Amino acid sequence: MCGIFGYVANGHVSPELVVDGLRRLEYRGYDSWGIASLNAGQDVQITKAVGKISKTSPEQLDRLRDPATLAMGHTRWATHGEPNETNAHPHRSQSGRIVVVHNGIIENHRELRHLLESEGYVFKSQTDTEVIAHLLDRNLRYTHRFDEALSLTVLELKGAFGLAVMDIQQPDRLFAVRLGSPLVVGVDDGRCLISSDANALAIYTKQVIYLDDGEWAEVTREGVTTYDFHRAATGKIAEQIEIDVAASELGSFRHYMLKEMYDQPESLRNALRGRLQRSEATVRLAGLDDLGERYRPERVKILACGSSWHAGLVGRYFFEELARMPTEVEYSSEFRYRNAVIEPGTLVIAMSQSGETADTLAGLRESKRRGAQALGVVNVVGSSIARECGRGVYLHAGHECGVAATKSFTNQLVVLLMLAVHFGRQRGMSIRQGLELLDSLERLPELAEQVLKTDEQIRQVSEEYVDATNFLYIGRSMEFPIALEGALKLKEVSYIHAEGLPAAELKHGPIALITPEMPTVVIATQSFILDKVASNVQEIKARGGRIIAIVSEENDAFHSLADHVVTVPTAHDFVSPILATIPTQLLAYHLAVLRGCDVDQPRNLAKSVTVE
Ligand code: AGP
Ligand code: GLU
Repeated sequence: MCGIFGYVANGHVSPELVVDGLRRLEYRGYDSWGIASLNAGQDVQITKAVGKISKTSPEQLDRLRDPATLAMGHTRWATHGEPNETNAHPHRSQSGRIVVVHNGIIENHRELRHLLESEGYVFKSQTDTEVIAHLLDRNLRYTHRFDEALSLTVLELKGAFGLAVMDIQQPDRLFAVRLGSPLVVGVDDGRCLISSDANALAIYTKQVIYLDDGEWAEVTREGVTTYDFHRAATGKIAEQIEIDVAASELGSFRHYMLKEMYDQPESLRNALRGRLQRSEATVRLAGLDDLGERYRPERVKILACGSSWHAGLVGRYFFEELARMPTEVEYSSEFRYRNAVIEPGTLVIAMSQSGETADTLAGLRESKRRGAQALGVVNVVGSSIARECGRGVYLHAGHECGVAATKSFTNQLVVLLMLAVHFGRQRGMSIRQGLELLDSLERLPELAEQVLKTDEQIRQVSEEYVDATNFLYIGRSMEFPIALEGALKLKEVSYIHAEGLPAAELKHGPIALITPEMPTVVIATQSFILDKVASNVQEIKARGGRIIAIVSEENDAFHSLADHVVTVPTAHDFVSPILATIPTQLLAYHLAVLRGCDVDQPRNLAKSVTVE
């Protein structure tokens, strides 16, 4: 999951540039970091530390001020071996010739370690990564050509990797290698850069080369040459990226999560822009255009993980109700190893904010292999899922830096609703219903602005629950997945245990947990099922449970039941769950801040999950 950043330049650049790049990539992993630099005299300097690079003292960074012809660094999300200085990357081969940083997992590291140990290599760390440095070093003994040795090495590795490799005998170049973990090369005036994502490159250059799986780049300050793992040139040339760097600035907000929640009116507007087609009472999505007017899938299968999976569950209600399309929503991690039957006429939607989630990418490949039509619903432009799908619908949520998904989640809901309207109109949805939905979608950004006004009320409510150790979240119909998402958000950022449930399931067991110490968040904005939820809430009340209700303005059924009522503007039943999401985000945020948690980079997490 980690972040990799590196450069090759003219000898006047200092590795502070890598520090800066790694800070931008820190959302990918932040348990330890390390940087290796090489100057013209072929002196390698390696600096490592436990913790976040953004929290490193200036004295610790002093050593990184001297110019170097090249440097590369890593911010780690440990998979093999605890986060300590020894296990932090870069890792160096025994002879000292090869230095490596790695994102991913080497699955055959045990076998390779035994082989190398039997040949006299002594390992210093517990990581799977160290085998790469020694293996390349070893292969260089058998063949003196570096490219041959690199090819042999990468073909021997099983698993997923993005690598930056330094050979101290070639002090004018770095090698960037990709199989399964993202890596982008930036081409700038007089220097080239390597990064795990294009965002971290955007302030330096807008000219980038996305490496594909099974490809490596030889990066010098004059330019980049790409090869496949068998050393055949692949001739990639740089493409221009459009990334608004200013949009990722924190501004006056205390945290990215807060800023990104407040971005929602604008991000929702961006998701809708140019897509609502009133004249036809439908939605036009460019990603579907190249499938042709006549493209009419029979059913939908959504593959996703985490919050994206929750969004998919809401999408199932949209597709079934509005388009009468049978819809399945699957955890990509389970789907990929199941011998799933994909019926003809299935549209597989790979849903992912980052576009890099390893399991979703693998699920997508598996579906394509079985002949399914695939569509990516992705936020990060140019990400692996977006590129492998070939066609898709971008979320246009803008860069999301906070590890917890907020604006990307609400944009996922909006994009799914738009897809359902598009297919619904092909399958019998009336013009009247189509227009009603377009109207409510159009009003959504403005209503989201109003929901954000509940911020202070929710902060005050949070103060009462700061010592809670457990929470329940309940909802029905489309708001059951919103309950799941609310619970996930709370767990992620505040470390309070929480469980999301369909409200009616309480009485089948979990109601045993209700005591005054177990608060329940009730999400109930959909008019058609309000009375049913109210009965479920009565059952909690009767057992002394404390209740925080998120309801629509015109609903007063909960005022006498709930301890706290947070209201959102009344909206169409298909749109109000999107609005109801925002108070759950604010609640998680305020509880986390009050408990002193690191909301933007919660413990043990990383934004982009590029390992299985
Ligand atoms: C969201 O808050 C989580 N950090 C996580 O569940 C996330 O949604 C999941 O890892 C999937 O990520 P993706 O959308 O980038 O594929
Ligand atoms: N598997 C490697 C390790 O544990 C790399 C992890 C990462 O991607 O940060 O060090």
